[in-house]
Amino acid sequence: MPEQSDHTQIPRHVAIVMDGNGRWARQRGRPRTYGHKVGSSKVHDIVEESKELGIEVLTLFAFSSENWKRPKSEVNFLMELMIQMLKKEIRKLEAKGVQLRFIGQRELLPEKLLKVIADSEARTRNNNALILQIAASYGGQWDITRAARVLAEKVAGGELLPEQIDEKTFAAELAFSDLPDADLFIRTGGELRISNFLLWQAAYAEFYFTDVLWPDFSVDEYHNALRHFSGRQRRFGQTGEQVSG
Ligand code: IPE
Ligand code: IPE
Ligand code: MG
Repeated sequence: MPEQSDHTQIPRHVAIVMDGNGRWARQRGRPRTYGHKVGSSKVHDIVEESKELGIEVLTLFAFSSENWKRPKSEVNFLMELMIQMLKKEIRKLEAKGVQLRFIGQRELLPEKLLKVIADSEARTRNNNALILQIAASYGGQWDITRAARVLAEKVAGGELLPEQIDEKTFAAELAFSDLPDADLFIRTGGELRISNFLLWQAAYAEFYFTDVLWPDFSVDEYHNALRHFSGRQRRFGQTGEQVSG
């Protein structure tokens, strides 16, 4: 394990926007799908390293609400790739104590993928070495809107008073409300944007952007991000003196 001792502060929850697959492939004169395939093969090492480092939650952005707007052939390829990846990796993840969860608008996902998701979640539900969340058909705006709707239904049903809606009751209706918010938000591929990934749950995340394209993202690059995180003072609104004092 390289340079683990460098990190004095390990984030509890790391979230990654795995971006740059298409450009990586194009640079090599290959179709975008080739980039997705090579990119998907990089996930394994990052999951493994996260577990070794004692990170509790790793959330990977695999497919956004907006990615449905891509050409049908690319969308189909990505759905099939997720199915194949899950089938290939589930046994190892299960054995390693990884708990797999999916977040996103499930009803849009193909039936075949939903079956594999249900099976993977059921098989790993009691694992606790690392929680691996795959965000598929996920958007932060979808998550927040859905929570608002649930609360509105509770108010309409007389279960909840409008004045009882606060940050805590709202957060309780969001995806993975039982888990800590993101501490470290990594985006590969050079873009400096969130692209509708975690909105609420990244309120106090530290951001790390790298030009490295996802298929080139290595465990060493991951350590760079973790080192940056370790060097940051998280103040959560307080003064530096309050936090270090
Ligand atoms: C990220 O890579 C993977 C998904 C969005 C599914 P991209 O496909 O966005 O790659 P670029 O940004 O076009 O290089
Ligand atoms: C974000 O990347 C989504 C994933 C990595 C799954 P995009 O490539 O879709 O983001 P934009 O469109 O460049 O903002
Ligand atoms: Mg992209």
